[in-house]
Amino acid sequence: MPSNNEPHFFGRRQGRKIRKAKTSLLDKFLPQLEITSNTVFNKETLFGTAVKNICLEIGFGNGEHIAGQALNNPDTGFIGAEVFKNGVANLLTLITGIKQADQVPETISLLPERVDNIRIYADDIRLLFARLPDNFLDKVFLLFPDPWPKKRHAERRFVNPDNLKEIARILKPGGLFRIATDHPIYKSWVLRQMHNNTDFKWTARCGNDWKKPPHDWVETKYQRKAIREGRRPVFFDYQRL
Ligand SMILES: C[S@@+](CC[C@H](N)C(=O)[O-])C[C@H]1O[C@@H](n2cnc3c(N)ncnc32)[C@H](O)[C@@H]1O
Repeated sequence: MPSNNEPHFFGRRQGRKIRKAKTSLLDKFLPQLEITSNTVFNKETLFGTAVKNICLEIGFGNGEHIAGQALNNPDTGFIGAEVFKNGVANLLTLITGIKQADQVPETISLLPERVDNIRIYADDIRLLFARLPDNFLDKVFLLFPDPWPKKRHAERRFVNPDNLKEIARILKPGGLFRIATDHPIYKSWVLRQMHNNTDFKWTARCGNDWKKPPHDWVETKYQRKAIREGRRPVFFDYQRL
């Protein structure tokens, strides 16, 4: 049960009925990869083997970006936070390659194609912030956060002074904070919030640095939909000072 001190979450926690194979993955594999109240945030042990860098993706949606990044960067550990249960189930499908319920083995170590450098926090990242050590992360990704475009919902937007303070604390000096958005109101909102913030520096030198996807980008379904519907995503890279 959430306590009264917990921040209110405004998005969806569950959508369409989750199919049998995904339910099975959630039951069997999530406990093996999940960040719980007992997890110790140690770079040497969090991912089973020591990793060189650690990245966090906030609100990974269907998981395409974090799964792609984890495959492309096997020496890096990725923490993914997502509240939406269907999204967590989808990430488990992506990283195991399992689509049928009868293919789900008992333990994840049986899987030849597994990606073993992801750990999942299946809840609101704001509840995890306080447990993450100072200077723990090399990169933080916040990709296409819910824009909450109505003025009366502005306080729900994830980019806000409280969350920026936490992200600045857990990122190493020199670390990357990447925000992508396709919403015009959120674009201006991010630029204003970040301009007023003394912990980060915008790294863009020319238009292409934020109008085009960065070199290490992994495309997501959400991004493809935005482009199909005529919205132009932008990619803001900030450096922790
Ligand atoms: C618009 S979707 C974008 C998903 C994904 N990043 C992408 O680019 O496809 C925003 C996601 O952020 C998640 N989210 C919002 N606030 C969150 C929070 N405080 N902690 C964890 N996830 C959050 C939502 O559940 C939703 O799946």
